[in-house]
Amino acid sequence: MSSSRRHSVTLIPGDGIGPEVAEAARRAVDATGVRIDWEPVELNADIILKTGQSLPQNVIDSLQRTGVGLKGPVTTPVASGFASVNVALRKRLDLYANVRPVRSLPGIATRFADVKIDMVIFRENTEDLYSGLEHEVVRDVVTSLKVITRTASIRIAEYAFEFASMASRKKVTAIHKANIMKLADGLFLRCCREVAARYPQIEYKELIVDNASMQLVMRPETFDVLLLPNLYGDIVSDLAAGLVGGLGIVPGANMGEKQAVFEAVHGSAPDIAGKGIANPTAMMLSSVLMLTHLEEQAAADRLQAAIEKVYAVREHVTPDVGGKAGTQEFTAAVIAAMA
Ligand code: NAI
Repeated sequence: MSSSRRHSVTLIPGDGIGPEVAEAARRAVDATGVRIDWEPVELNADIILKTGQSLPQNVIDSLQRTGVGLKGPVTTPVASGFASVNVALRKRLDLYANVRPVRSLPGIATRFADVKIDMVIFRENTEDLYSGLEHEVVRDVVTSLKVITRTASIRIAEYAFEFASMASRKKVTAIHKANIMKLADGLFLRCCREVAARYPQIEYKELIVDNASMQLVMRPETFDVLLLPNLYGDIVSDLAAGLVGGLGIVPGANMGEKQAVFEAVHGSAPDIAGKGIANPTAMMLSSVLMLTHLEEQAAADRLQAAIEKVYAVREHVTPDVGGKAGTQEFTAAVIAAMA
C-alpha cells in the first residue's frame, strides 16, 4: 500500500541516455501508486551552451522548492568547454554525501557469480580535486588544487558511520593516499579516525587506494562500507559497478541538509544514446532510494522486488547485462511485475 500523501519531485532528464532512463524510472515510480507531482526541468549540454549559464536558476529554484530531485546524467565536455554541471549542482546545494549501494542482482553473469557483493560507498561530494581550481602557471605547466577540509571530512565520515550504525553494518574502510599526500589525505584520515572512535562497535580499517582497488577485485565480498574523498570515490564507484554487472545497474544519492538528488552512477553514455537499449535499472534503483527518503517504504520495496523478479527471469533484460530487450521492454516488464 502506498501512503495517501502527495510529493513534489524535481525531474531532471539530463541528456544522452538520460531522458530515456529518466522516463522509464518515472513510469516505474508512478506504477507503485505513490502520488508524485513531477516538476520537469531542463539541465543538459544544449541548454548550457544556449543560455551560457552552467546552472540555470530554475533548476535550483525547483530543487529548493521540492527538496527532492530525480536526475539523469548530464554530459561534460572533456579537456575543454564548460565546467561540470554535476559538480556545480552538488556544490551549490551542498549535497555533501554521495551514497552508492553496490549489490549483486539475481541472474547477472559476472566474474563473481558465486560471491555475494553488498557494499555501500560514501564519497565526499564537494571538494578535493573537484574544486575546479586549475591554473596554467606558465605555458605547459599547470597546477590543480586539491582542497580537503576538516568540516567536509568530518561530516562525510559521520554520515557513513551513522549509516553503518543504523543499518547494523559491521565494518567501515577509509580509503586514502596519505602516504604521498600526507597533509591533504592525512587530514581526511585523521577526521575518519576521530569519528570512528565514537563507534567502537563498528570495525574500522584503512586502505591505500591502489591496494584497495586490488583488494576490491580480488576479495569484493570482504568490503562493507567504504569511505572516500571525492576523486577516489568517483573512480572506485565505477570499479565497484564493474564487479556486479556494470554501470547500468548501480544507483546513487546525493544527500545534503536540505535537498537530496537521486541519480545513477553512470554518465550520459553517448555511445548508446537514442538507440533504445540503455538499461534503466540504475535510475530505477535510484528511485527506490528516493522512495525510501520520501518515507514510502512499501512502494520502495515493491519496486525493488519487481526489478529483482525481472532479473531472476532474465527474459526482458537489456544487452549490457547479457539480454536482448530494449529500455521500453524492460520497463514494461518491471511495471507488469508490480501489478
Ligand atoms: P558513461 O557512464 O556515460 O559510460 C560508460 C560505459 O558504460 C559506456 O560504454 C556506456 O554505454 C555504458 N553505460 C553507462 N550507463 C549505461 C546504461 N544505463 N545502460 C547501458 N550501458 C551503460 O561514462 P563516460 O562515457 O565516461 O561519460 C559520458 C559522459 O557522461 C561524459 O560527458 C561525462 O562527463 C558524463 N557523466 C555524467 C555523470 C552525471 O551526470 N552524474 C556521471 C558520469 C559521467
